[in-house]
Amino acid sequence: MKTTRSVILSTGASLPRRVVTNDDLSKMVDTSDDWIVQRTGIKERHLADDSETTASLGVAAAKVALAEAKLEPQDIDLIILATSTPDHTFPASATEIQASLGITHGVAFDLQAVCSGFIFALATADKFLTSGSHRRALVIGSETFSRILDWSDRGTCVLFGDGAGAVVLEAREHLGVKAERGVITTHLRSDGRHKGKLYVDGGPSSTKTVGHLRMEGKEVFRHAVGMITDVIKDAFAAASINASDIDWFVPHQANRRIIDASADKLGISRDKVVVTVEKHGNTSAASIPLALDAAVRDGRIKEGQLVLLEAMGGGFTWGSALIRW
Ligand code: UT7
Repeated sequence: MKTTRSVILSTGASLPRRVVTNDDLSKMVDTSDDWIVQRTGIKERHLADDSETTASLGVAAAKVALAEAKLEPQDIDLIILATSTPDHTFPASATEIQASLGITHGVAFDLQAVCSGFIFALATADKFLTSGSHRRALVIGSETFSRILDWSDRGTCVLFGDGAGAVVLEAREHLGVKAERGVITTHLRSDGRHKGKLYVDGGPSSTKTVGHLRMEGKEVFRHAVGMITDVIKDAFAAASINASDIDWFVPHQANRRIIDASADKLGISRDKVVVTVEKHGNTSAASIPLALDAAVRDGRIKEGQLVLLEAMGGGFTWGSALIRW
């Protein structure tokens, strides 16, 4: 049994100023508000302007989370940024965030697992904290997917948005009491055979370009619900709980239909599901921390509740995390 638990102290979020509605997009590509809402649930998304980057959005979200936790940047000794859209090929945008926050100790690095990035980063931070090597972590999901979209491809450009969310985690002694706060269990998976279904057609080592997102939407959809439910069942088994024990289900926000189908298959009541996809679109690694922040801020998620996270994305990668908030 773990003697330490990683407790989430606070959340923060940052969204680009510009809001783009489905009607705005219908002036750019052959689409409609009806089609986008029916197929995805998305109504609008925030898109970064030239002055807003993955690092700047990440810094803004991190500052909110630090203020909420009543901590100073110097209290943080680990920063993990989940992103597939870094400001530069290198250095890691996490180190840019570290420098912007004025932190010169500890370690900061990027982690890339596309839409599952936040869960992978949270699980990684949990391992660092529970091992005793680090004490307080900022886990950030920040993305500017608008930079890698093909704005002539209506099958993908209507789906994504930009933004950043962050959480502060602290290592605390775990006394072994069942209702104790913290990350209870995390489950990560990947299967690289699915690369061609969701990928970016460029990169420094292959094309020497940044490239554009390509997706076989139907194929991703077909795999999503099964993968999501499998990894959640792993979490239930590890924690000896079932769907009725969950207070809040905070899934990756890709598509309302995927979220509903996953909740239904698992037997999680729809009124326990946090949904922000209508306002943010799919913000990849930022979607879960943005949804967490929304639900904490409006009072739904409260201390002591059982919160279940899941995500699935390019790779494929997928994962779940169960947290006593
Ligand atoms: O973050 C994890 C990764 N991403 C996902 O989880 C996304 C998974 N996939 C999806 O969410 C859905 O597959 C989509 C929303 C991408 C598409 O929904 P769909 O029900 O699978 O539609 P479809 O791709 O089968 O397209 C149906 C029709 C096609 O027309 P035809 O061939 O039936 O005449 C498309 O050309 O809809 C057409 N279409 C559009 N029409 C209006 C595709 N995109 C659009 C659009 N506006 N933006």
